[in-house]
Amino acid sequence: MCGIIGVTGAGDALDILLDGLERLEYRGYDSAGIALIDSSDIYRVRVADGTHSVSILREQTKDAPPGCVTGIGHTRWATHGQPNELNAHPHLDCAGDIALIHNGIIENYAELAAEMVASGHTLASHTDTEVLPHLIEECLLTSDGLVEAVRKALEKVRGAFAIGVVSLAEPDLIVAARRISPLIVGTAGNASFLASDIPALLERTRDLVVVEDDQIVELRPGSVKITDLEGNPVTPRPLVVEWDVEAAQKDGYDDFMTKEMNEQPRVIADTMRGRVESSGRIFLDQLDLSREELASITKVSIVACGSSYHAGLVAKYAFERWARLPVDVDIASEFRYRDPVLDSNTLVIGVSQSGETVDSLQAMRQAKQSNARVVVVSNVVDSSMAREADGVLYTRAGPEIGVAATKTVLAQIIALELLALRMAQVRGTLAEGAVAEVVSELWSLEGTVQEALARDEDVAAVARELVDARDFFFLGRHAGFPTALEGALKLKEISYLHAEGYPAGELKHGPLAVIEPGCVVVAVATGGEMKEKILSNVSEVKARGATVVLVAEDGDTQAASLADYLLMVPRTSTLLSPVKDIVPLQQLAYHLARNRGLDVDRPRNLAKTVTVE
Ligand code: AGP
Repeated sequence: MCGIIGVTGAGDALDILLDGLERLEYRGYDSAGIALIDSSDIYRVRVADGTHSVSILREQTKDAPPGCVTGIGHTRWATHGQPNELNAHPHLDCAGDIALIHNGIIENYAELAAEMVASGHTLASHTDTEVLPHLIEECLLTSDGLVEAVRKALEKVRGAFAIGVVSLAEPDLIVAARRISPLIVGTAGNASFLASDIPALLERTRDLVVVEDDQIVELRPGSVKITDLEGNPVTPRPLVVEWDVEAAQKDGYDDFMTKEMNEQPRVIADTMRGRVESSGRIFLDQLDLSREELASITKVSIVACGSSYHAGLVAKYAFERWARLPVDVDIASEFRYRDPVLDSNTLVIGVSQSGETVDSLQAMRQAKQSNARVVVVSNVVDSSMAREADGVLYTRAGPEIGVAATKTVLAQIIALELLALRMAQVRGTLAEGAVAEVVSELWSLEGTVQEALARDEDVAAVARELVDARDFFFLGRHAGFPTALEGALKLKEISYLHAEGYPAGELKHGPLAVIEPGCVVVAVATGGEMKEKILSNVSEVKARGATVVLVAEDGDTQAASLADYLLMVPRTSTLLSPVKDIVPLQQLAYHLARNRGLDVDRPRNLAKTVTVE
């Protein structure tokens, strides 16, 4: 996700843009840029220097032309195209008369770009965004002004967008529009503003409204006019803002972890957007491995650390079931020293939110030396692991500020399951109808996870009952086993309570001796295939006095009869069940940690990225 801001009618437009971009850096900080309308020219400066981008931009715009009253600004979290100056927003049309900023993903950018090039346009960047100013330039040829041209252009666009567009031909006008990506607008005196989110504007105005999907906004000094795509006026939804800036950066949530848990439905959709069609056709464009190269793969080796390792364990079931490929899953610090058997027919998949975890990075380098094909699933475009891989699959979760991984783990599972489906298609091990069925359920996970999140108060009530518990076992079978591991890790890392994830079938081989009254056993009893067996394991621990918390699917009365506490989740198929079963375990860990008065965003002893061995 990126941050956009625009202002017209303000004598200090540049300061407003720069201050706003600083407030939006939590949405992305690969690069930043501004464009000002300066009588006969568009003054544009862009900087790609990570977290220093906005401060350097402030330095580099000290010689900006004075008195500009209209401008736009952007801070980027790259999804297409490296995080460099060339790809930084704002982007221009060929003539340099139009500048545009964008947050979102243009799904049909490749076909639109081909159309623009065929019409004689020259695209300079590797982004999906840059097709838009050129498309608007093209539409202007048959339009009566910028508003009509933007309207026509957006009729051709598929995907998610929040945009701001300025043009030399109409110097005090900004045209904005929204589909899926957030957009707010407002006024203060003679100034009119647009932004992705409240923090960017709070110090200028609290008189804001929310722009809804497929609405277009005309911002002029002191006036904001909102219409639908057909040009019909709409009544905007006022936004009553009582937050301070920090609260606004957390979207009003108490902490980033809660905000990021609640971003999970959007992250699922964004990670899929532009990569799958309802027919089941899958486009993993940045994978950079041909159908023949994928078809030559005879073994998969997934390598990761922490929560990313758990996502890899979930993916093992999908690759083996759908693509009929043998899969090893290794913790990176172990993979490096076990002298793995790899060759050019092995696909090594490095899974890493940061793309910088040194154990995972070194494991990728080792795999490349063995001639294996290396693909990286990462949340950070152009990270070290992404740069060195043969192909990448980005998770598009946006920055994850909380040390505990939440939204990025679900996004990793989605990305890996898309890759497993693609391998199944290439190998012909899954009929197209079956692929389409899985794709359809993957799309439905956005709503399923939303529903699971909505049950947070039920989980909080269970956490209150367990406030004195000190010893937790998390049990699961099949795809529920990595879910159990992830639940245990979440609890450990933010509540500092001891928790152990275990395959439920292993209890009788030793751990059952630990079970006694006071021990809490959290069992993942979803996913029809294994439920009977896990419930019999639950009976074993219950008979020995354990307190039993069950993650169970709606309508499961059998599980309800065994549980001391229930964490109910919507039904899904087994291989997709971790995506929604993890949610109540995230929430349980969160509430147990908050009940202990702990800082869930910055837990002791830990760092967001582990760059030491
Ligand atoms: C997960 O909540 C932890 N923050 C940690 O285990 C993390 O998953 C691990 O360090 C791997 O990080 P990466 O995905 O950036 O490689």
